[in-house]
Amino acid sequence: MDKILNWGLLSTAKINRALIKPLRASKRTRLLAVASRSISSAESYAREWHIPRAHSSYKDLLANPDVDVIYNSLPNHLHAEWTIKALHAGKHVLCEKPIALTLEELDAMALAAKESGKILAEAFMYRHHAQTLKVKELVDSGALGKLQLIKGAFTFTLTREGNFRWMEEMGGGSIWDVGCYPISYARMIVGAEPVDVFGWQSTIASGSDDSFIGQMRFQDGIHMQFDSGFKSPSRSFIEIVGTEATLNIPNPFKPGLKNKIYLNRNDEIQTIKINGSELYLGEVEDMCDAVLNNQPPRISLTDSRANTTAILALLQAAESEKPVSL
Ligand SMILES: NC(=O)c1ccc[n+]([C@@H]2O[C@H](COP(=O)([O-])OP(=O)(O)OC[C@H]3O[C@@H](n4cnc5c(N)ncnc54)[C@H](OP(=O)(O)O)[C@@H]3O)[C@@H](O)[C@H]2O)c1
Repeated sequence: MDKILNWGLLSTAKINRALIKPLRASKRTRLLAVASRSISSAESYAREWHIPRAHSSYKDLLANPDVDVIYNSLPNHLHAEWTIKALHAGKHVLCEKPIALTLEELDAMALAAKESGKILAEAFMYRHHAQTLKVKELVDSGALGKLQLIKGAFTFTLTREGNFRWMEEMGGGSIWDVGCYPISYARMIVGAEPVDVFGWQSTIASGSDDSFIGQMRFQDGIHMQFDSGFKSPSRSFIEIVGTEATLNIPNPFKPGLKNKIYLNRNDEIQTIKINGSELYLGEVEDMCDAVLNNQPPRISLTDSRANTTAILALLQAAESEKPVSL
């Protein structure tokens, strides 16, 4: 019989709900355990979601010998610390985005993965979806002509008072929370890293941004512009402009089972329909392929490092009000 990977949820974070269904849908995974900072919260969460084991601390979860994979859904400032602890405890880790807040954190995480021989991947779920793969294929096939410009946005109205997203010391800010998506998307489409970046931000009392407007310049005359924010209505899109056509992706980061993207050539719009599987199943199956079949994870740590580098450079540019070269 094929091996089943036992997963443990590190915390009772809201995002766990997105993972629970795919962890049950995959034939290669079993949701075995959840940990919380208090036993009452772990037990009530385990009861609510029918999870067999509840742990009263994150440390206890990592000590559970039956757990193979940890899903790290902690606030951003705890990603590095607990991912490293999990790797050292012999667990594979799927870590939520943004995987790290500094390059030092990222390098320490990569070292822990190397030393432990365990898999570590960042949970950018959109990267595994059929729509994303189709967009990349279209651009690479030359369907748009030569790539010129990518525009994107990801905003929503953040109402969760006291949430880590508002706190700079917890890795808060819109660029870390949602700006990381258009940045990641553009780098994937270009297939290269930016050479210069610039950005403006509006900051709140804690020092983190509640809106960010940024741009990145790549080699060969390719440019990218995006905005992210916590105080606008829910918006997300990617537009990819080539010399011969434009591709509009109205729902780039959270595509569903049925999706449409639009190829505009000389004002004639072709609708391309794409069927996809459940959004978060892709990252679960990718993790299984990496652990069970020795396949490299689709999102490499080199890729994650480059995304972190771009975000840090954009923040530096906004703070210094000067462009930053990479
Ligand atoms: N990929 C996606 O679609 C997606 C969507 C949303 C969020 N995310 C990412 O997932 C992560 C979690 O986001 P979320 O909104 O789900 O988090 P959340 O609901 O705010 O929960 C975070 C959990 O972390 C634990 N925690 C440990 N120390 C904490 C502290 N000092 N303050 C607050 N909580 C603490 C708590 O669990 P216990 O009380 O059980 O210990 C808490 O429930 C973030 O990295 C975020 O960027 C990804």
